[in-house]
Amino acid sequence: MAKTVQTSTDAAGLTSSLGSSARRSAIKQVIGRSLKKMGYTLSRNKPPTKLVFRNIPGWFSDAEAEALYTLAATAPVRRILEVGHFLGRSTSAICEGIRDAGSVIEFNSYDLGLASAEEFVAHYRRVFDTCSSQPSRESEELVFSQEKTTSEIAKMHLRRFDLDRFVNLITGDFTVLDRTQYGLIFCDATHDRGEIALNLPHLVRVSSDDCVWALHDMNPGNVADVFGASPARLIRVVDTLGIFRFQRQTPGSQNVDQGLPPSA
Ligand SMILES: C[S@@+](CC[C@H](N)C(=O)[O-])C[C@H]1O[C@@H](n2cnc3c(N)ncnc32)[C@H](O)[C@@H]1O
Repeated sequence: MAKTVQTSTDAAGLTSSLGSSARRSAIKQVIGRSLKKMGYTLSRNKPPTKLVFRNIPGWFSDAEAEALYTLAATAPVRRILEVGHFLGRSTSAICEGIRDAGSVIEFNSYDLGLASAEEFVAHYRRVFDTCSSQPSRESEELVFSQEKTTSEIAKMHLRRFDLDRFVNLITGDFTVLDRTQYGLIFCDATHDRGEIALNLPHLVRVSSDDCVWALHDMNPGNVADVFGASPARLIRVVDTLGIFRFQRQTPGSQNVDQGLPPSA
């Protein structure tokens, strides 16, 4: 007996009497079955994240935002620090975590608030070892031309989603201004060896004994530099977000095994 293959014309014929959504799903089933016969399987795209961070410009991926949100919602901490809110993209994920946890958490977030291309270049020429010291298009278009600080713009973005009430946005250098101790720290100022050398000793200073660090822009070289400058254990890397457990070394404490997973 001759073998027949059902075509999309057959599918349209089969479903002509159905309503439009029933028709779409019947057509999908017919196509799915035909593809399966040919050895292919159809998979659904991942559902989009429910977090609002995508509405705020900046540099943070879906997976990174979800990971940061989960840390903020589940870490049993009283204080969270963010270094580098820029326009509030990563900040919003932390705020949503705090909101959904329903607990009282003090969340302090700093940004240098560089207000012009000249200030930007002067700062990063002093700091960066390998990264570019040229301002991004986002900085030019969304900050320098607005005559507002990044904290003001971040507050505006967060207010749209009723998230500004969960964070104290501070314009300035955390290494100079902050004297608190935190149980969870997200730092977006660890882009290369120069910036890690500058900021990491201050992260150590403001960390509680078992602080969780989420450090952005981690690659094997940056992870090695973090290990070189602090007693920390790498737990996981999500895209480029490195999640570490900082373990302060006190007299008599063991050295931490700093095994680096192959994925880092
Ligand atoms: C890559 S941007 C942050 C992007 C942001 N997290 C996002 O989700 O889009 C890095 C920011 O870190 C800030 N920064 C760098 N060093 C800092 C420091 N020592 N204290 C406070 N902010 C700092 C800079 O002003 C800059 O806006």
